[in-house]
Order: sequence, then C-alpha cells, then structure tokens
Amino acid sequence: MGPSIAQWFYDIARLNEDLQVELVDLATFDLPIFNEPKHPIMGQYEFEHTKQWATSVSRADAIVFVIPEYNHSFNAATKNAIEYLHNEWRYKPVGFVSYGGAAMGTRAVQALKPIFAALKMIYAGEVTIPLTFVPVVDGKFSGNEVLTLAGETLLKELAKLTPVYQALRQPS
Ligand SMILES: Cc1cc2nc3c(=O)[nH]c(=O)nc-3n(C[C@H](O)[C@H](O)[C@H](O)COP(=O)(O)O)c2cc1C
Repeated sequence: MGPSIAQWFYDIARLNEDLQVELVDLATFDLPIFNEPKHPIMGQYEFEHTKQWATSVSRADAIVFVIPEYNHSFNAATKNAIEYLHNEWRYKPVGFVSYGGAAMGTRAVQALKPIFAALKMIYAGEVTIPLTFVPVVDGKFSGNEVLTLAGETLLKELAKLTPVYQALRQPS
C-alpha cells in the first residue's frame, strides 16, 4: 500500500509553498539486509546501494516516513534502511504517515521514536491512517478531509522546525 499512500501525501506536500518536496521510494535502492563492514557513523561506505541511499537522505533537510505497521511495530525494511546511515539523519526533523488496521500504524511510530532519538532526529508529528475505514481502492488512496488536515499540520510543523535544525547542522 505504501506507494499509493506516499503519492497521496506527496500531492498534499507539493501544495505547501514553504517546502520543496521529493518523493523517494525505498524499493528503488534495493537495500539488502545491512551489509556494510564499517559502522555507519564513519560514513565510509563500501557498497553502491549505500552510497546512493546516503546521497538521497543527505539531500533532505527534513524527512517524512510513510510506513506500515507489522506485528505491532515497524516493518523490517524501514529499520534496515535507517541502520544503513548515521550522520545523514542527525539533526533533521522527522514526521510519519503511518497506516495499518485499527491501530493505524501508531505502534510502528511509537517503536521508531527511541531509534530516531538515538540518531538525534526531532519528532515533528504524524498522520495515522486506518486502512479498514479509509482504504486504498484500485491502487489509489484518496484520504479524507481529516487526514488531509493532519497532513497539512505535519507539513507546517516541518516547515517551522527545518530552519532551526539546519542551523544545528552547520559545522562548528
Ligand atoms: C506481516 C504483517 C504484519 C502485520 N501486522 C499488523 C499489525 O500488527 N497491526 C496492524 O494494524 N496491521 C498489521 N498488518 C497490516 C498492514 O499494516 C497492512 O496490510 C498494510 O497494508 C501493509 O503495508 P504494505 O502493503 O505497504 O506492506 C500486518 C501486515 C503484515 C503483512
């Protein structure tokens, strides 16, 4: 469901005049289970897949993860993609568009919060989607008024936090 929901959020994000947005599909990086020999904190990546992923994340001043809930937590592909990098995440605001059944992906977001805190990312908010009530139909997610408002609120918060955290990333 990820691409349909990501497209929905991207369409809302593009309307925010304070942000320039880019839609990134993790699948295109085809990351294997973490296989870099050195700790990511060193930034000495051996594999092309890591270098491309690092370039993509480095370009961002803030990030919104579009994530499902699996077994009351985050899915493995998301955690694996986070693990690959370190400095590329630091001091960036992070938001979530989560989806799932009745729990709407909220448990995935809760489980990710301490991980992002360890990486010094700042939580900016979330949009939580109950697919049981607001489904993807024929590959298209249309959302509703409440979800659109939640998305706009998250984007406003990201626009507010981004310059503050940009300053923290300046070399001292
Ligand atoms: C292995 C697996 C575990 C899941 N566990 C949960 C869960 O704990 N809570 C929930 O609300 N939905 C759960 N779901 C439902 C998914 O959130 C839902 O199918 C969602 O569309 C999956 O995202 P994806 O299509 O992008 O993979 C689970 C789905 C899978 C495949």
